[in-house]
Amino acid sequence: MNAIEIRGLTKSFRGMYALNGLDMTVPKGAIYGFIGENGSGKSTTEKLICGHLVADKGDIKLFGRDFTDAGVRVRVGALIENAGCFPGSSVYQNLMMQAINLGLDNPDEEIMRVLKIVRMEDNAALKFKKCSLGMKQRIGIAMALLGDPALLILDEPINGLDTDGMRIMREILVDITKTYGCTVLISSHILGELEKISTHYGIIREGRMVQELTAAEMDSRARVFVSLKTKDLDEAARLLQKKYGNVRIEEGYVRVYDVNETEAIVDFLIENGHIVSEIKKNKIGLEEYYIELMSRKESK
Ligand SMILES: Nc1ncnc2c1ncn2[C@@H]1O[C@H](COP(=O)(O)OP(=O)(O)O)[C@@H](O)[C@H]1O
Ligand SMILES: [Mg+2]
Repeated sequence: MNAIEIRGLTKSFRGMYALNGLDMTVPKGAIYGFIGENGSGKSTTEKLICGHLVADKGDIKLFGRDFTDAGVRVRVGALIENAGCFPGSSVYQNLMMQAINLGLDNPDEEIMRVLKIVRMEDNAALKFKKCSLGMKQRIGIAMALLGDPALLILDEPINGLDTDGMRIMREILVDITKTYGCTVLISSHILGELEKISTHYGIIREGRMVQELTAAEMDSRARVFVSLKTKDLDEAARLLQKKYGNVRIEEGYVRVYDVNETEAIVDFLIENGHIVSEIKKNKIGLEEYYIELMSRKESK
């Protein structure tokens, strides 16, 4: 079953389309990396799923049910923009206010549970305004986790975090899906970070889904290759083709795919009378893949 299924979602603001027939499928248990440039419609999509905005058209299903269904609404936790905390109150007090709003039966226990998940059980008494940005983001996630949601929606939670903050965030998100079986929809434009945790990707552009793919599909498209320059590119390419298979000339370089040992290649070419003037290891990762996909769409 899918956690989210969206068909033909359309939303305009003052006659301008923010979403224009968006389709989206997020399988249960996924960490779904929702990628797109600023203004492409990520936050609008998330707000519509959360019921903060009303769509012009389209269909949103959560766990197979209409998204307005009360039984399904209580299973959604979200952090969009910021957590709306009171700066002068402690982490614990802020969570308690939210727990009371939600009408939770055992608020104290639930607050300790979510603080533990976001690695902040020792900071419960800290005033919100004294928290670092990374801690504030994690408090936001703790807020969203109150009541044990099955779906967590996070809008750019790794924006502005330092390397360490990002690492902790990654660990928390993997923990949430693995331990609690929660599905996570996470939007970001920091592709390299999403790449480390996402099981699925959705690439949005101008309010439409350009492509959805699994991490395995992305991996099969991400490849390593060595690029190099010699005087006689054609002859070098012919030689390398015999030894390594997959070789191509592109943009004035010979590319040898699916290898990354530069020294062996240089030695081999020297033995065969070629002088290598430049050589470099490359990887087509999510970032390159995304840029390539975007430029392809643009040139149409
Ligand atoms: N409340 C609003 N009023 C008017 N325009 C909006 C509003 N919210 C979003 N938009 C517009 O809709 C488009 C998509 O915005 P948004 O969903 O925030 O994109 P993203 O989160 O991908 O950066 C943008 O062009 C933005 O200016
Ligand atoms: Mg946004």
